Order: sequence, then C-alpha cells, then structure tokens
Amino acid sequence: MRAFAALALFAVTTAHAAPDPHSYANSDAVRVEHAHLDLKVSFEQRQLSGFVELRLKRLDPNAHRLVLDTRDLTIESVVAIAGDDYPPTPFKLAPRDPVFGSALTIELPAAADRVRIHYHTAPEASGLQWLEPALTAGKRLPFMFSQSQAIHARSWVPIQDSPAVRFTYSARINTPKGLLARMSADNNPLDAADGDYRFTMQQPIPSYLLAIAVGELKFAPLGERSGVYAEPSVLDAAAWEFADTERMIEIAESLYGPYRWGRYDLLVLPPSFPYGGMENPRLTFLTPTVIAGDRSLVSLIAHELAHSWSGNLVTNKDWNHFWLNEGFTTYVENRIVEAAFGVERADMERQLAERDLDEELATVPAADQGLRGHLSGRTPDDGPTEVAYTKGMTFLRFLEQRFGREVFDPFLRRWFDSHAFGSVDTDDFLAFLKNELIDRHPGKVSGDEIFQFIEGPGYPAIAPRTHAARFDAIDRSLKAWLAAEVELGALDSKTWSTQEWIRLIEGLPASVDLKQMASLDAQFKLSSVGNSEVAFAWYVQAIAHDYPPAFAPMADFLKRIGRRKFVVPLYTALMNKPAYQAFARESYAKARPGYHPITRESVDAVVK
Ligand code: BES
Ligand code: ZN
Repeated sequence: MRAFAALALFAVTTAHAAPDPHSYANSDAVRVEHAHLDLKVSFEQRQLSGFVELRLKRLDPNAHRLVLDTRDLTIESVVAIAGDDYPPTPFKLAPRDPVFGSALTIELPAAADRVRIHYHTAPEASGLQWLEPALTAGKRLPFMFSQSQAIHARSWVPIQDSPAVRFTYSARINTPKGLLARMSADNNPLDAADGDYRFTMQQPIPSYLLAIAVGELKFAPLGERSGVYAEPSVLDAAAWEFADTERMIEIAESLYGPYRWGRYDLLVLPPSFPYGGMENPRLTFLTPTVIAGDRSLVSLIAHELAHSWSGNLVTNKDWNHFWLNEGFTTYVENRIVEAAFGVERADMERQLAERDLDEELATVPAADQGLRGHLSGRTPDDGPTEVAYTKGMTFLRFLEQRFGREVFDPFLRRWFDSHAFGSVDTDDFLAFLKNELIDRHPGKVSGDEIFQFIEGPGYPAIAPRTHAARFDAIDRSLKAWLAAEVELGALDSKTWSTQEWIRLIEGLPASVDLKQMASLDAQFKLSSVGNSEVAFAWYVQAIAHDYPPAFAPMADFLKRIGRRKFVVPLYTALMNKPAYQAFARESYAKARPGYHPITRESVDAVVK
C-alpha cells in the first residue's frame, strides 16, 4: 500500500503548487468535506488537545496524499480510515514558514476516505487567545476565544485552510465545569454549563469561519431567532444595545432573500478581541467597545449580519479577492443602516468612511489601491484596508446609481442566490456583471470605468461622493468657533450624534492650538469620553496637536482595549513623533500582555 518512502513524499510536497496562494493544501486533488472535532480545552496548559477526523473527497482518483495547513501544532498521530480499518499512516510536517506555517503531508492509501489526526495546540497559537480571569469583565473565570480569519484556523485545527474549500462540521468540546463553550454552529441557548458540549454545522463553510469561545457566558434573547451571549455583568447592556438586531435581519432579508443560517446570535468578547466584529456563522463575535450605551455603533452588527450573504454565503476564493467579502458587505451594511435608521445616518457613516479612504490612499502604494488584491506571498492580514471596504462599497454604489436600485437590487440578490455556498473571484463577478447587468442595459457604464475601480489607483473621479447635510452644519459650527464668532457652550451639541462628534473632531485643522484643545476638552470632556470611536478620534488629534492632558487616559485606553483598528493607528502616530516614542514603548509594555497574538504581531512591527 505505501507506495513511496517518506523522503519522496516530502520532495513532492514542496514541489506542489497549491491552488490558493495562502494555503499549502492540495485541495485540487483531495478535498475535505466534513470535519469532526473532539477537543479538550485546558486553561492550565493553554491548549486544545484531542483529534480532528476529516472526511475526504478525491477529485483526482489517483491522489495518494493529503496536504493540510498547520501552524505551531504538535501532531501526535495520524490514521487513515478505510471502512472499519484504522491503520496509522505516515505523515510529515514541513519546516515552519513564519507567515504560512507548516504543510502537513499525509500518505493516503487508495481505499481511505477519512483521516483522524491527534494533535494539540501551542500556548501561543496565533488564532487563539487565552485570558486570565483578570482580563475578563467578571474577573472570576478564564476566557478563551478563536479568531480564524484570515489564515489562523490552521493554528488550532489541521485543515485545508483556504476559503475555496467548504465543509460541514461537528464537534464535541470538553471544558471545565461552569464555563460555556459556543461555536460557529447550532448553539442551543438552553445548554447548561456542564462542560460537555456538542455542535453541528450543517451548511458547508470555509475554514476561516471555524470559531469557538469558552467563558463565563450567559444568554439573553433579542428575538425569535436571535440573542446575545455575554459575561453576566455585560449582558443587560448588550441586550439593550443590540435590540435592533431582529429588525436588521428582516431588512436584509427583504433586500437579498432569506437568512439561510437558522439562528443569528451575537457573542460579546473581552476587550482584547482584535477586531470590531467577526462574522462567524450563526454567531457573530463582537468587541465590547461597540456597546456605547446609545446604540450609535450598531452599524457593526449590520456589517457582520450582512456577511451572512456576502462572505459566508458567497465567499472570496482566496484573499486577493477580499473586496468581494468586505466591499459587498460594507455596501449591504450601509443599505441596512439606511433602512433601519434613516438616510442621514447612512450618509454620515459613509462620508466618514470616504474620508478614511482618502487618508489611507495617501499612504498605500498605488499597486495596492485597486480592488483586486496582490497579497500572494504576503500575509493576508494586510488585506483589511479601506480599499477593500470603502472603495469596494463605492464601486457598488457607483453601479447602483448608474442602473438604479430597481435594477441593481435584484441583480445583487441574483448574485447571492446563484453563487450561494460557493467561492468566487473578481473575474467571476466581472463576468456576472457583464452578462446580467451591462449587456442587458447597454451604454450605462464602460469597461474603462470598471477598470478604474478594479485595477486603478485612487478614488475614481467618476465615483459618487457623499455630502451629509448634518456634517455641513458641524463644519459651519467648527468654523464659527475657530473664528471666535461663537462660544462652544452656545453650540447645539446636545443633539449631536456620535457620527457628528467624530466629524467635528476629525475636522480640527492643524492650526488648532493648545488652548483651543483645552477648551474643547473642558467643555465636552473628550479625554474621558466613553464612546470608543469618539475617544479614538480625540486621541488621534491629541497626538497631532501635542495635547498632554489626553495622554494618561490614552494610555489607559490602550491598556484596556486591544482592538487593532484603534491601537495600531495610535501607536503608529506616537512612534512617528520622536518625543512620544518612549510613551508608546512604555504604554505598550504595560498593554502587550493583554493583547491578542494578532494585535501583538501588528503592534510589534510598529513599536520596536
Ligand atoms: N471579517 C472582518 C474582520 C477581519 C477581516 C478579520 C480580515 C480578519 C481578517 C469583519 O467583518 C470586519 O470587517 N470587521 C470590522 C468592522 C466593520 C464594521 C468595518 C472591524 O473589525 O473593524
Ligand atoms: Zn467585514
């Protein structure tokens, strides 16, 4: 049966060109169809241990090996299963690549259709964070959660870690009693925290949507099919903040067809969660910094919910086509916000995003300014830029405006329906766009215009620009105050929304002096503001304007919160000013132990 020696096996592996530039998997020859996980969660050892059993489909009938992705996993044994036969099979772990990890090559006898891999994770697994009780809200029990996107699933499961490969999964998870385990699967809100949990995910998903969280979690319902999990002390505030969830699901369904995943629950993580949100199917993971107390940041829920169509249902084939996930989702998010909270709110949020895009375009190399990504050989964690999100959204808005919503909305719905549970790339979308929209309504957009978005640099001159009326009023108030025509106390700031506060703060010109910064702070208490987005905008200005009183609260913010979107720009701005480098280093030294491995990697690169 074993037709080749281990040495030959290894040579073949390194020569193989995998279909996905960020995966070693030979998914063009053998494909994972179902994964069953049986894992024990150990907080003492900061490790998951047990096995995964993979059911395989051979695309190449002569395939005699299976190549999986791993990173920092210890592989204990592998068996290749054929019927009732479970014989050990040779395997080889390649040397570790710092970005992609180690290919695991398993010899696959002709009759085998499953493999079972016994393994355990490393305490520093890039896709897991293990939190001491002190870093949770309750401070009584530890917490553990995964973040698999983009290529971190491989650090906790040996898998074909490519968004082109979809599989169903089931799991049995063993935890210490009193902690609840939840996964991106069918969670039963009535489960008791007895330490023994079973999950099934019957819709096929890509590996980056594998997710697990274990902690002192309680549940509150939000609607018939939606609810929120959070630590007990956070639960009431979370349930209040996210009360619009069911309504947003209904809005999305009315635009793009039925929600196909059963339940839609939210899980609030500790503040070290490296992202704002993560669209794990059936169970969005959220930063607690979205709980502002006034529901003003819930477009993040609209965003993660929108991924139930763009991303989870229709998935980018590899990370060079990330804009198909995030640009579409940002567009859908804004449509949900418009329908749920009105056109003014949607306009303001979009205009803020357009400004962020403008600022980023000033720093990103021209080659990375087109929607089609060029991330091959690079870490796909570089993919999340405003280009994929906001230029992507703007492209769809451009099409929406040229064709009209009565034509564009059904078109987008057909895109989701006809590619449901599939993986797609930029050319797939361009072909669909041509056949389904452009050829049917000729003369509305040109190939050159499309090129400007897909490949071209910058913010295309033909792209729509948003002008929110309420922002004009903010800009006028700011100007009047700067010209000493009006006192801060006389502005109608009581009525300002979070988005208007951000507009005001981001609009402070370089000429604002220390005294003016101090008056703003005295009047509006900006250095200690609770809203994370407003605080972030203010700290950015405090660094730019050398305003010392904001630095102590900023250090506290950096220690409390590990969301990459906030901490990476703040450390970057600090390091760009020699006078603040020591402050950045000191703050980081205190904060780093509480940061997620993904956040640490990004901040390490900034703070040397
Ligand atoms: N899927 C992303 C998060 C992500 C992207 C994780 C790439 C890893 C690699 C998620 O849907 C997202 O976009 N989150 C945003 C929030 C959103 C409202 C812009 C975030 O985390 O800030
Ligand atoms: Zn997203």
